[in-house]
Amino acid sequence: MSEGESQQAERDASLPDADSATAPDLTELAKRRGFFLQTAGAYGGVSGFYTFGPQGAGLKDNIEDTWRERFTVREGNMEIDAPTVMPEPVFEASGHLDGFDDMLVECPECGASHRADHVVEDNTDIEEAEGLGAERVEEVIAEYELVCPACGTGLAGQAIEGFNLMFRTNIGPGSSSPGYLRPETAQGIFVEFPQLAEYARNQLPFGVTQIGRAYRNEISPRKSLLRVREFTQAELELFVDPEDDAGPDLESVADVTAPFYPIDAQEDEDGEPREMTIGEAVAEDVVADPWIAYYLGVATEWYDSIGVDLSRFRYRQHLSGERAHYAADCWDAEAEVDGDWIELAGFAYRADYDLSKHDAHSDDDFTIFKQYDEPVTVERPAVDPDMSVLGPEFGGSAGDVASALEDLAATDPDAFRTDDDTVTVTVDGDAFEVPLDAANFSVEEVTESGEHVTPHVVEPSLGIDRALYTVLDHSYREDEVDGEDRTYLELPAAVAPTTVGVFPLMDRDGLGERAREVAADLRAAGLSVAYDDSGAIGRRYRRQDEVGTPFCVTVDYATLGEAEEGDSEGQNGGTEDGDAPDPDTVTLRERDSTAQTRVAIADLPRVLSGLRDGDLTFDEI
Ligand code: GAP
Repeated sequence: MSEGESQQAERDASLPDADSATAPDLTELAKRRGFFLQTAGAYGGVSGFYTFGPQGAGLKDNIEDTWRERFTVREGNMEIDAPTVMPEPVFEASGHLDGFDDMLVECPECGASHRADHVVEDNTDIEEAEGLGAERVEEVIAEYELVCPACGTGLAGQAIEGFNLMFRTNIGPGSSSPGYLRPETAQGIFVEFPQLAEYARNQLPFGVTQIGRAYRNEISPRKSLLRVREFTQAELELFVDPEDDAGPDLESVADVTAPFYPIDAQEDEDGEPREMTIGEAVAEDVVADPWIAYYLGVATEWYDSIGVDLSRFRYRQHLSGERAHYAADCWDAEAEVDGDWIELAGFAYRADYDLSKHDAHSDDDFTIFKQYDEPVTVERPAVDPDMSVLGPEFGGSAGDVASALEDLAATDPDAFRTDDDTVTVTVDGDAFEVPLDAANFSVEEVTESGEHVTPHVVEPSLGIDRALYTVLDHSYREDEVDGEDRTYLELPAAVAPTTVGVFPLMDRDGLGERAREVAADLRAAGLSVAYDDSGAIGRRYRRQDEVGTPFCVTVDYATLGEAEEGDSEGQNGGTEDGDAPDPDTVTLRERDSTAQTRVAIADLPRVLSGLRDGDLTFDEI
């Protein structure tokens, strides 16, 4: 068994089989428990927009914080925060104005618009229809006699149009200055490259991160958070020198394992994803770029830490027809949700696409000046065309002929080292014979201290909404406690919206006051606390279990120095060995095992912070 396989076996063995369960309708559950709900329900709802409720907003914040800690702080990258609206020239340069289209097919009967590639994927065995191109998708729709998902009318023969996904607006009054809501946070980084390079003291590699909203006017939003029109991206643009890059610290992630599904395996009928370490993926050239491989390792550990089940996770390489207009290579992180593989993130090698485009379209310089270790002397071929000869000879074309001579000197100086009397240049397909003397060809020796290079870009681009949805789906559990069915979310303590629920056993005899004091002290210590004094204590535990709160604290009579007999879960001031517990202690209960222990109130902030941050386990208390 390879190291990768044995790690997988270990992972499988540690899966909580008895507990894990398929989440019921997650969207309904998310609404009921305060995670997310469709926006503006009072007005019939608006498709593709979701509002995060109190639990969801907390979970999302925590996921974002852990991403920031891992991808920005720990990597030594810089974070920026750019506007969500950008002027049109930015998207002309980036290619989004022309190339950011989805395939739209309209029903001839009911007029409903659908994503043509989704109609194909949903009704045939074809998995990645986007890569087929519009013409082939049109053919497939006809071949399979596919129908409108809304009314059942045949779609054969309907033209497939390109639909640009950007939301357009006007900057200021009037329409003279169009703007667009950014379809990716990345462009906010690329347009500021000249200044960001200064901040990085023009030293490659350097990375810039951004986390924020992106907008896409999706043709058919679906599966609640999985395809929405406004969502959060967490992106890193890493600028590297393509010719001189020491590369990442691959050693640090070499043993991280994940299933890899490269192009050849996808195209092979019997091909399957293969579990391997990052080290193996690089050594076997499965992942060509070491920086991409490095961030696949970092991301695997990060997804694991936020609660994505790695036995339902893989990396899939984009097929060539599937890649975005800017990507030279791309790997997606995918998770299995409800039997489908959904894309959580893309890891793209964008080469010099973006910086070259902005360099060409703007007045700024999007290169880095790379200083040589030692100055070098190089030969610079040059011409100094004699216009008093070229003018009479070539008339209106003389200027273009002079430019063509300059280009030729730069690209093929040997053309001037000839025994002939003339040199030939081409302008707009016409050949011009130029007297060699009139070109005034020479070679100068110049000393150069460095050169301008256009950095290449490696981009891990993670979607937060899809990660959150997956975490909810993968953390859903069902079990039985004291003969009663229970459902709970096994969220890691680091991302759970609430770290601790604080309850008085009953709201009388001073228990409520003491519990409120405990809750206030824990909040002051920076912990996220839910206070609850309504209903039976078991019911209160269940409410916190359902939203994934990892710990609960109960203030009971023993806390006040008045021990009473404990009940079956040890609440009510009892201890497992029957001894009266110390005053000023509380019951601390763990969500997953439902185990309980007594902890001094004075120790609670330290203990709970340690449990949340992974510095302490429940057994170690
Ligand atoms: N800058 C690169 C980029 O934007 P992308 O693959 O189009 O790449 C990155 O988007 C991630 O953003 C996706 O992997 C996904 O998690 C998320 N995402 C994209 N479109 C989305 C949508 N309509 N709804 C929710 N998340 C989306």
